[in-house]
Amino acid sequence: MKDLKSNIIFELVSASVVFFLILGCQKESPPIPAKFSLVIPNGLDSLLVQIPEDNPMTAEKIALGKALFFDERLSLDATVSCAFCHNPLQGFADGREVALGIYGLEGTRNTPTLVNRLFSRDQNWDGRAKSLEEQILEHIQNPYEMRNTFENLVNTLKAVEHYRKAFQIVFGTEVTVEGIAKAIASFERTLLSGSAPFDQFITGESGAISKSAERGFVLFKSKRVNCIACHSGQNFTDEKYQNNGAGMDKQEPDWGRFVYTKNDTDKGKFKTPTLRDVTRTAPFMHDGSVRTLKDVVAFYNEGGIPNKYLSKHVKPLHLTEQEKTDLVEFLKTLTGRNALFFTEQFSSSN
Ligand code: HEC
Ligand code: HEC
Repeated sequence: MKDLKSNIIFELVSASVVFFLILGCQKESPPIPAKFSLVIPNGLDSLLVQIPEDNPMTAEKIALGKALFFDERLSLDATVSCAFCHNPLQGFADGREVALGIYGLEGTRNTPTLVNRLFSRDQNWDGRAKSLEEQILEHIQNPYEMRNTFENLVNTLKAVEHYRKAFQIVFGTEVTVEGIAKAIASFERTLLSGSAPFDQFITGESGAISKSAERGFVLFKSKRVNCIACHSGQNFTDEKYQNNGAGMDKQEPDWGRFVYTKNDTDKGKFKTPTLRDVTRTAPFMHDGSVRTLKDVVAFYNEGGIPNKYLSKHVKPLHLTEQEKTDLVEFLKTLTGRNALFFTEQFSSSN
């Protein structure tokens, strides 16, 4: 697993797809260095990728980032790697309600998936980290997660010959904390979920999804049910912050984005999560309070959890039993073929 000659394989070539049906605005993509070509799976739009100019992706950097992602030495007591919480075999989440970090300490929030972060800028449920790179530095120091210091981490990794060599090759420097963040972020940008049955269906392959799922998609984007008001575009998220009420019935709710911005209007808002690979990342919501996809649909059918700041798009839906089933069947079609690919790739490198 820590082999730097890692065998990252990029799956399936595809052009950007006819996705403007449900897509928001398109931005110009920064150039991807010629040295390395990132293959974007079917259903995802290469025009929307976000790669910082000062951190171009190269094959060597990604391999280094992969080794670091799985390395427990990132944490103070060398027990907790990124993959400990973002487990490739569990959709890059952990199956827990809230995260479990160093010394068995529980955090307060559910671990989000890492797929398709290539298309995002701000990170975390409240958007407080401005890039993947910044997000990593925060995790390393978080007392409930890795509890490390930059100085200790750099010294630990400097003692490892293959890291010393790899940093020279990739950055032309010794081990640095900036390099650690840049390498891991580059690896994260390769974790893509696309080529799902839904992508086949939307590009014209009738029969790729069941009739029930097709009806579910019609409901999903209908004025009446309108999930698409928030779960929009190729990655089924507006990358914005919304209040659907999850957790708002607790005695001391997590106020989400408000904790970071201090704007009253942000109370109870959390980042709209992607719905890709959602069959793999239960339990759901920022606090893991909703167990299954059936429960998610029941949650929205009730109109979320009423609170002063609830989005106007969340209201009782009066769905029939068949409609509830159809929505669940639709959500199930968003699991990418990559899911299987990751499972095979990462279990064989274990
Ligand atoms: C102890 C468990 C744990 C560990 C270890 C951990 N994470 Fe996380 N990760 C989380 C939780 C929980 C969140 C959500 C935090 C929040 O919103 O406040 C998160 C959020 C993220 C996000 C933001 C995703 C999004 O959708 O906004 C990224 C990216 C990420 N982690 C990557 C990493 C990387 C890379 C590492 C290793 C350096 C790592 N994580 C280590 C639990 C963990
Ligand atoms: C007002 C915007 C909005 C609307 C409308 C909306 N969602 Fe969400 N959705 C969110 C937000 C925000 C979250 C995360 C909330 C939290 O964690 O507190 C979420 C969470 C989810 C999750 C859990 C994902 C995860 O990884 O935890 C699923 C599944 C989901 N929504 C499906 C749907 C479906 C199906 C509909 C339509 C019936 C819908 N959503 C309507 C904003 C919205």
